[in-house]
Amino acid sequence: MVKGIIKKQRKSLPIYKYKHKILETINKSQVTILIGETGSGKTTQVAQYILESSLNSDKLIGITQPRRIAAISVAKRVAYERQSEIGSLIGYSVRFENKTSENTKIKFLTDGMLIRESLIDPILRNYSFLIIDEAHERTTNTDIILGLIRELITQRNDIKVIIMSATIEAQRFAEFFSSREIIEVHGRTFPVKILNAAVPEPDHIDATVIGIVQVHLDYPAGDILVFLTGQEEIEDVQAILLRKRKLLPTNSMDFTVCAMYAALPSHLQMKAFESAPENTRKIILATNIAETSLTIPGVKYVIDSGVVKERNYDPRTGMESLKIVKISKAAAKQRAGRAGRESEGICFRLFTSEDFNGFEDYSKPEITRSNLGNVVLQLKIIGHDPRLFKFMDRPDDIYIEKATQELRGLGALDGEEKITLLGRKMAELPVPPVLARILLASLEPQLQCTKDILTIIALLSVENLCYFNRKEANAMQIFKCSEGDHLTFLKIYQEWRKNKTKSWCKTHGLNRISIKRASMIRKQLRQYLKKYNPALVHAPNENILKCLAKGYYMNSAFLSADGTHYRTIKDREIIHIHPTSVLFQTRKKPQCIIFSEVIITTKKYVRGVSEADYGIIQSFLGTLKTK
Ligand code: CDP
Ligand code: MG
Repeated sequence: MVKGIIKKQRKSLPIYKYKHKILETINKSQVTILIGETGSGKTTQVAQYILESSLNSDKLIGITQPRRIAAISVAKRVAYERQSEIGSLIGYSVRFENKTSENTKIKFLTDGMLIRESLIDPILRNYSFLIIDEAHERTTNTDIILGLIRELITQRNDIKVIIMSATIEAQRFAEFFSSREIIEVHGRTFPVKILNAAVPEPDHIDATVIGIVQVHLDYPAGDILVFLTGQEEIEDVQAILLRKRKLLPTNSMDFTVCAMYAALPSHLQMKAFESAPENTRKIILATNIAETSLTIPGVKYVIDSGVVKERNYDPRTGMESLKIVKISKAAAKQRAGRAGRESEGICFRLFTSEDFNGFEDYSKPEITRSNLGNVVLQLKIIGHDPRLFKFMDRPDDIYIEKATQELRGLGALDGEEKITLLGRKMAELPVPPVLARILLASLEPQLQCTKDILTIIALLSVENLCYFNRKEANAMQIFKCSEGDHLTFLKIYQEWRKNKTKSWCKTHGLNRISIKRASMIRKQLRQYLKKYNPALVHAPNENILKCLAKGYYMNSAFLSADGTHYRTIKDREIIHIHPTSVLFQTRKKPQCIIFSEVIITTKKYVRGVSEADYGIIQSFLGTLKTK
């Protein structure tokens, strides 16, 4: 019964008509480019087509995804379609979670995990097919994989590669791989009416809330998909909507709100895929994660804020910033397209048509605006010279030089830029080089603070641990440590471990989802360090600060003479402590600080700030000066 329904559903997908052509092309060509509208069936079907065909071999079919949720949710979907348990025939492997077995034939994995596998086996001999999905997103990891594969196909003529993308940049992929095989899948899409704002909206959050309420009250049934920039905004809008829900006229339709962002645990994300109860409208608040990789059924209206949170790295100052920026034209079109999957839809753009005309055509590939520490480290281990590596879009030389310099400072590369033993150990850990360095430093016999550093690193790996914009006190203030934020994080975690209840989190202004995720990450990181037999004991605070300084010495700053601001040691840039830091209001500011992150708004703010161990910073000053 179920099998019949699944079979029918699979046959009704737009891609089904192309099944034969796709298999034929894969058979005759080593690299195939497959383009198709979101929802046409690329991600769920292509691997199954291969599995069902004579092309199938006893090796793996790998499909990469830029995001972990997409990898997990789509693996589950395919497992369901094959009526098999997840982890057997169909599996997935994402950072901090592996669900595969000896029987696995189709393996969904994040692009980052495939790079990790390349570190161990550069020719990826377990795979006979590699499908690179969502290639248009051009994440740093996808770009690395594209470069690696370009090399790999010259060494392995038995491997087949399929590049899948939702947008029309196909030609560039084809050129990069010298392939002429582009298949375009035409899907069923319905017209989407675009309604632009008449005048620019000064505050996209306000405009979004008003937009949602208006659509809900004035438009017929159909779910609303809303694009916002991140977890914090989503949680705020969710809270406002739930308050407004109580004020709805009694004769109007009810609504439910669900969220969709990368850090949300997958069981909560799955709620967006369930249909709402009778006479209830579903409102999905999402980041750009819902732009192409996920198909959410029931959506008839899209509300597009027109902005996205973008991470940018400035190699000159070594600072990374998270900024809310305008989306590209391509992204705006993708977002609008989400309204026309099942029937005619409407996209409400919270920006004017003049704004739209000013958007870039595409956003710049992430690799051209990121800290390349990890990239250089990984390429070195695989045996590539990052300066000669064939990137689809080459980052400016200064990005590679800066990363190389940083890795030398951390001890991952030696004076001749060869990878060191420490560098290899760092690359094994699933965190950026700076955090890896800190984790490894915690194992040193004179520091022995792995237990606490694990907690701190795990907490640094999640966003929005506390609610700062609410009236209630937040855990950062309640458990404030005079040494700074990192030790405050640790204290919060230790207190949470004693309580863990929903109400405790609420009274302490703690984001329960974030801290639970941190706890899971901590467990995974501990596994990675197990082979070093760390002494899992509590350490004195000074050891923890020493350890942090060993990784963060490049992010260090001195207090100015008048005590109003700090200047970075490396470039003498003026920075300020962010208001969310426990060191923001202390009377006695430390002379020297280290920080985890920079946020550039009207000023340059640093977040995740702690007193620095000056002795350690000083011992590194020499390496900083050799530019
Ligand atoms: O990759 P692409 O966007 O082309 O499509 P897909 O992810 O393979 O999805 C094809 C269809 O499968 C969607 O239109 C949904 O109807 C269905 N699907 C689903 O029901 N549940 C999922 N988790 C994923 C897909
Ligand atoms: Mg897809």
